[in-house]
Amino acid sequence: MNILILGGGGREHSLAWAVKQNPKCDRLIVAPGNAGIAEIAWCADLDIEDGAAVVEFAEANAVDFVIVGPEAPLAAGVSDDLRAAVFTTFGPSKAAAALEASKAFTKEVCDAAGAPTAAWARFTDAASAKAHIAETGAPIVVKADGLAAGKGVVVAMTEYEATAAIDDMFGGAFGSAGAEVVIEEFMTGEEASFFVLCDGETALPIGTAQDHKRVGEGDTGPNTGGMGAYSPAPVLTDAIAEDVLAQIIRPTLAEMTKRGTPYTGVLYAGLMIEDGKARLVEYNVRFGDPECQVLMMRLGGQALDLLQAAAEGRLAEKQVHWAEDHAMTVVMAANGYPGSYEKGTVIRGLDGLPQDSSHMVFHAGTAEREGQVVATGGRVLNVTARASDLQAARDAAYDMLDQIDWPDGFSRSDIGWRCLDNT
Ligand code: AMP
Ligand code: GLY
Repeated sequence: MNILILGGGGREHSLAWAVKQNPKCDRLIVAPGNAGIAEIAWCADLDIEDGAAVVEFAEANAVDFVIVGPEAPLAAGVSDDLRAAVFTTFGPSKAAAALEASKAFTKEVCDAAGAPTAAWARFTDAASAKAHIAETGAPIVVKADGLAAGKGVVVAMTEYEATAAIDDMFGGAFGSAGAEVVIEEFMTGEEASFFVLCDGETALPIGTAQDHKRVGEGDTGPNTGGMGAYSPAPVLTDAIAEDVLAQIIRPTLAEMTKRGTPYTGVLYAGLMIEDGKARLVEYNVRFGDPECQVLMMRLGGQALDLLQAAAEGRLAEKQVHWAEDHAMTVVMAANGYPGSYEKGTVIRGLDGLPQDSSHMVFHAGTAEREGQVVATGGRVLNVTARASDLQAARDAAYDMLDQIDWPDGFSRSDIGWRCLDNT
């Protein structure tokens, strides 16, 4: 089978790595890819948000199966274009991708499905949004409705912060994503992520994870795309996962089908867990990054069979084969991230590291220049290990990280601290 993966981050490196282990995979192409992906696949230069270009490329290269990694091509309808051209495609339609692309749409679907989530209201003008904030008080959460690269959410501890966020959003800080604003009740508890494959009918859970969104030790400082993750997430017990499937995921899928936009692909539910009960924070319509890296490390080559079954409506016949293992990934980012950072700095020490079913450095923002690996993005490497318990996975990941020579990068030293006592 010839497989095309769209994307070029750590998520796509881990997808490529898992898919490649499956004997069904013949030719593997990743667009645009990165320096790590180039070691295992052909990296093609392609505008992955241009549906016509992606279809033309897939036809020219006899592609049998396309996996769409990031949300932007999904929100642009690339999976619809591919399916219209009869390519088997993993990833939701543009209409179903609204579960990530519009916060107000997600809230409407949750209400119709009876799925537990924060109380909410939507506004298209600043005056009524501010009146709502004055009436409700703080803490309160203000969200730009549309995709804002993870930056459109303000958890406001004071009314002043909340009204400042309203001014920012209606003032155009997030472009058209902020033309509508959702204001939510502030939820307390512990966050965890639940990943479920969907084929429009069947929902198949493929793992839980927790990430560390803040840049600083102890989960402090500005938000990032994620500085590290581990799987499974102990807080998301089997009993809670069953409740989430019954009360949140399946009712959402049923509501999407009822609306004529059945959901296929991976549904990533961000949950807030308190007193043994989960509420939905948000949906994403793609794998998390870096959560995907720990899921793929645990799933290995079976990931291809599962993703293909989701794309072909055959999930009911599938089971996930679990090892009782744990995986952790630690992100190395360029100094200055998530603010401004230098590009083109050289990374050394990668060659001597183990690369096997329990140890991998997944590349995110890297490129190869004159035989050297250089950093090209904010988040650059995902140092990932798997072991029989989380502490051992953590030790193995940090052992690898210590051997990487990149003075222009940094990482957090406390990934997994909520679950481990001695970090
Ligand atoms: P989102 O992009 O919707 O996931 O929001 C980003 C982050 O903001 C989440 O991971 C939470 O940490 C926080 N957040 C979002 N909504 C709420 C809420 N209603 N209550 C508390 N925290 C929230
Ligand atoms: N790590 C969070 C995300 O992928 O949205």
